[in-house]
This record gives sequence, structure tokens and C-alpha cells, in this order.
Amino acid sequence: MKKNTINTFLQMKENSDKITMLTAYDYSTAKLLDRAGINSILVGDSLGMVMLGYEDTLQVTVDDIIHHCKAVSRGSSNALIVADMPFLSYHASIEDTIKNGGRIIQEGKAHCLKLEGGRNIIDKVEALIMAQIPVMGHIGLTPQSVNMMGGFTIQGREEDKAKQIMEDALLLEKAGVFAIVLEGIPGKLAKSITEELTIPTIGIGAGKDCDGQVLVTNDMLGIFQDFTPKFVKQYANLKDEIDSSVRSYIKDVKDMSFPQEKHTFK
Ligand code: KIV
Repeated sequence: MKKNTINTFLQMKENSDKITMLTAYDYSTAKLLDRAGINSILVGDSLGMVMLGYEDTLQVTVDDIIHHCKAVSRGSSNALIVADMPFLSYHASIEDTIKNGGRIIQEGKAHCLKLEGGRNIIDKVEALIMAQIPVMGHIGLTPQSVNMMGGFTIQGREEDKAKQIMEDALLLEKAGVFAIVLEGIPGKLAKSITEELTIPTIGIGAGKDCDGQVLVTNDMLGIFQDFTPKFVKQYANLKDEIDSSVRSYIKDVKDMSFPQEKHTFK
């Protein structure tokens, strides 16, 4: 299987070949996704919610991302590893941004970084790219802005907001990002942005016309139980599988049907 790079993403857009991306936060999951042929693995700050049990992504730290990124990079051979820069790790100064982003690349072994925002972070995006760190943009519903947005609400429904999101996409492209995640925006707006840009768009809750799609793996496998957003397709129901497996294990241990002779050393 061929190794995915940022050039693969651009080529795939040119060839109208859809880009696939899923999140992973640990070695075993990364290995499964990579072996199945996923183009890209995102070490998203969604790990704060699905792995650490926080109610949003705001408490995730650079050290959290590095810790999970290291595990993912050990499990992945061909996927492009994208890591989220967490809340406030790229807002204070360019120096902080380079230091934090540099650590995620050097220690976490991510191939590139994803930053949420548009016009408000262009200087940081440019500085990272100047430092030879590829950047993926993320606009629309940006979970790190949950308090400013007043909740996890769909963005860009009003004409002026849609115009702002389109402008942000163009500014990010001009700044040099190699792809942009479009999250929680109307399908029509995502289609216009995708047609306007030469770099690929990766959608989540943004309809079918993006150049690729990303989902949180714990949502699409039915592991995360707290809530399932409307835009998620569940490809498995692992929470029920795990529940019945654990119940069977408890029963087997209690009635001594496990372990058997074949599980026992002579
Ligand atoms: O953190 C994450 O998993 C993300 C995706 C939802 C795009 O940013």
C-alpha cells in the first residue's frame, strides 16, 4: 500500500478520488484503520470527550495530544497522521505556536497539524508553514469555540455568516494550508467552498460534496454512548457487542466455564 502524504490529498482532489479520514487515539485502533487502507488518521482533540470523558475539547493539552499521537504513530504505516493543536496552544503568540506545534511533530511524530479558525489565526498558520510544518484548516462548527458559538450549533445558515466562512476558506488557502475540514455547515455552502478551492475539503456534517469525509471512529463504530450526532453513520454497534461479551465473561467466570483445559498451562 502507498504512503499517504499531503501531495496524495492534492492529487486525490485533482482525480476526484474521495479522501477518507478517521480519528484514532491509540496503537491498536490506528493499526486497524491503517491496515484497512484509510488515507489519514486524525489524532483529534475529540479525544478529550471520547477517551478522557470531558464535556468538551477545551481541557485537552499539548501533552495529551503528544501522548496519543505517539501511540497512533507506532500503529500506523501508510496513513497521513494529522494532529489537532489543542485550545490555546496557538492563540497567545507565534513563538508559542511554533513551540507547541513543533513538539507535536517532533515528540508525537504527527506529519501535520490541524488548527481551528480562519482570519483570526492566519499569522499562526503562516508561521507554522514557514517552519515547514504542513497545516490543515478547520472552519464552520469549530468545537474549541463552543462558548463563543453558544453551543455546538450548525454554522453558516445566514447569508452573512456563510460569506464569512467562504472568505475564511479562501484566506486559509492563500496562507498555504493543504486541506480544510468543513464541520457542521449546510451542504450547499460546503459544495460552493469545495468548488471554489484548489485544495481539498474534508467534511464532517457538511454533506456529500466535500472532497473527503472524516468521522470520529468511536461514533461510527458505536462505542461512544453519550450522544450520536445526526451526521454520523454507525457502521457497527460495538457498545452492545462489548456489553454482551463482558456479561458472558462474568457468567463464565462465575459458573467456572472459563478457563477451560485449553486455556490452562500443563
Ligand atoms: O477532534 C476531532 O475529532 C475533529 C474532527 C471532528 C474533525 O476535529
